[in-house]
Amino acid sequence: MIRKIGISTGGGDCPGLNAVIRAVVRTAKLHYQWDVIGIEDGFDGLIYARNLRYMTVDDVHGILPRGGTILGTTNRGNPFKHLVVENGKEVVKDMSPLIVENIRVLGLDAIVCIGGDGSLSIARDLFKMGVPVVGVPKTIDNDLSATDLTFGFTTAVDTATEALDRLHTTAESHHRVMVVEVMGRDAGWIALESGIAGAADVILLPEIPFDIQKVCDKVKQRRLTGRLSSIIVAAEGAAQLGGDRIVQAEASIQYQNVRLGGIGQSVARQVEERTGIESRVVVLGHLQRGGSPNAFDRILGTRYGVAAVELIAQKQFGYMVCLHGRNIDCVEIERAVGQMKRVDPNGQIVTAAEALGTEFGRPNHAAPKANKEAADKKKSG
Ligand code: F6P
Repeated sequence: MIRKIGISTGGGDCPGLNAVIRAVVRTAKLHYQWDVIGIEDGFDGLIYARNLRYMTVDDVHGILPRGGTILGTTNRGNPFKHLVVENGKEVVKDMSPLIVENIRVLGLDAIVCIGGDGSLSIARDLFKMGVPVVGVPKTIDNDLSATDLTFGFTTAVDTATEALDRLHTTAESHHRVMVVEVMGRDAGWIALESGIAGAADVILLPEIPFDIQKVCDKVKQRRLTGRLSSIIVAAEGAAQLGGDRIVQAEASIQYQNVRLGGIGQSVARQVEERTGIESRVVVLGHLQRGGSPNAFDRILGTRYGVAAVELIAQKQFGYMVCLHGRNIDCVEIERAVGQMKRVDPNGQIVTAAEALGTEFGRPNHAAPKANKEAADKKKSG
């Protein structure tokens, strides 16, 4: 019998987290009459068993349109390698046995873990230790391979698109190049989709190492045809041909991912030097993570939350809810983590953008397959 469940949000925040929390609490309480315990700040809340609270339907009233997470989150640390200070010295400790014990003492029959690849990998490892977990895929990066969409992604794309719309008008007024750096880590989904929706002239993706000369040629060619401004979208993980992505801070025990950033500045500087056209950079940063979720993410988050509770009711632990086509489905967390979903450089979305003239900075020898096939067909008659 399920009587009491816990819910936690881990990793970087994203629009739609509160929609999931609301759906879990309402379904668990109204449909199943279970108790729900809100766990604060991801797995830290379970290590220290602090600020745990019973959640009522009233507690989730009005949170659907709110950004962030009412439970708090962290993308620092990992309970399996937790940094603690002992006798004035920092030591790395495995706190997972403490989590297992706290879950037992609290009488939690299941935990809903809402997170991206990092938090879900931890959930998978806790599941292997016997913790009854279910997962909900969250991240603006949309880089989880086992689901068509993570919630939060389409809102981030909307935010970036609106920024591009605004930058077009100021770029046109000043005859400038505007370089917009967007998030996404090692996946170019936000850059690709906002770049298409926001009519960028150049899109630079982590999946396509770019030739800066091709970028400059595009800007200059636009000038020749009377277009005095250009918009370049650069994913934070994009790298120049033969170079590396630009890292601001290395990964550590505390922060398990490198912090990216700086490619926008580098592209703007090189374009200005090579073309003589004033080039400015805008780093959208955490604006993409903050604010109200769009209708799509509110609905997706709500459907994910309900589905997560249904997984618990069926005692299908170790699974993550996901979207396949238009249907909510589920997949083993084990199969959902550790395999990043990246943009296919020769896929339909990229080649569609190229068909209408968007530049990806591909070196000449790396023509996309679809265009190459079309060209081969033409040649053969
Ligand atoms: O994974 C989500 C994300 O926003 C990435 O796109 C970005 O690289 C990273 O988190 C930034 O994390 P932080 O908030 O620690 O700077």
